[in-house]
Amino acid sequence: MENTIEKIKQEALKEIENINSLKTLDEVKNKYLSRNSELNNLKKSLKDLPNDKKPVIGSLLNKVSAELNSLIEQKFSVFYEKELNEKLLKEKIDITKDASYIPLGNVHPLTKTVNEIVEIFNLLGFSLIESELSPEVEVEKFNFDLLNFPIEHPAKDMQDTFYCKSAKNVVLRSQTSNAQVRQMISSKPPIKIISPGRVYRNESVSARKNNLFHQIEGLYVDKNVTMAQLKGVLNEFIRLYFGSSRPTRYRSSFFPFTEPSVEIDVQCIMCKGKGCPVCSNTGWLEILGAGMVDPNVLEAVDIDPNVYSGFAFGMGVERLTMLKYAIDDIRLFFNNDERFLKQF
Ligand code: PHE
Repeated sequence: MENTIEKIKQEALKEIENINSLKTLDEVKNKYLSRNSELNNLKKSLKDLPNDKKPVIGSLLNKVSAELNSLIEQKFSVFYEKELNEKLLKEKIDITKDASYIPLGNVHPLTKTVNEIVEIFNLLGFSLIESELSPEVEVEKFNFDLLNFPIEHPAKDMQDTFYCKSAKNVVLRSQTSNAQVRQMISSKPPIKIISPGRVYRNESVSARKNNLFHQIEGLYVDKNVTMAQLKGVLNEFIRLYFGSSRPTRYRSSFFPFTEPSVEIDVQCIMCKGKGCPVCSNTGWLEILGAGMVDPNVLEAVDIDPNVYSGFAFGMGVERLTMLKYAIDDIRLFFNNDERFLKQF
């Protein structure tokens, strides 16, 4: 027994000598001093020894354990300090370095406009639609058919649509009006929602037009909703959005899903109405389309047009931003030029 203990001790001394990190120290400590160590197993078997041997072997075992433990502790303080110093050196912070330049991003002007408009309509009692009711990749049924676009009708060409090659009837939505239909299918009146999002049209890109742009759709359906309320809401929106009053005009228009329909123009801020390339020399820029929801649309989503009426509108976010800040080229919003974006 004494020999076995001595052998273990010699082995342990050699391993302790070779410890070179806290990690190896842990391994050695575990091997020789843990509950499952050989020395501890020997302690457990003391009870099987003859009575006169018990105290001798017992105290030898305790002595060796204590000796090994104290050697390991010594090693610990050496390596603990060494590793701590290495760590501190590696994580040293250079407090003399210049910290004055912290490049901060800011909110994109289009996002800023959307946030502002959403806030205005919240004030007017409209709430934001769930995003799953406003998908950008859409089936024709929601982008056109349920909005009273006659199937195979040139009206669909009004909004040069991107069709998906591999999936039949799938389009990149050409308008946020798909959200109207989805909302009316998922809940019944009173409905008073707005829904901002991206839309796509296959148009040639110019200072006025991009083939990706943003719209905000609004829909109010309830009993006794009138055109006068539509005008009241949109006039209030224009007043709150532009701050001071801006020359504005209503023009009668046509959309398959509203009847009657109007478009609202705001005087071009670039030329103050005199005519310039941005407004195609008309002095006006169209900011939104609107109208009373066509009874056919209500019927198609199972809302009784004899009981309910509604109005809808869809506004162009880029145009509204251009008109507020006198930005004369829509492409600036998409170029990610820091000199432009920094100004907002
Ligand atoms: N969706 C129409 C467009 O993109 C705008 C609109 C929305 C018109 C709602 C009337 C009602 O041109």
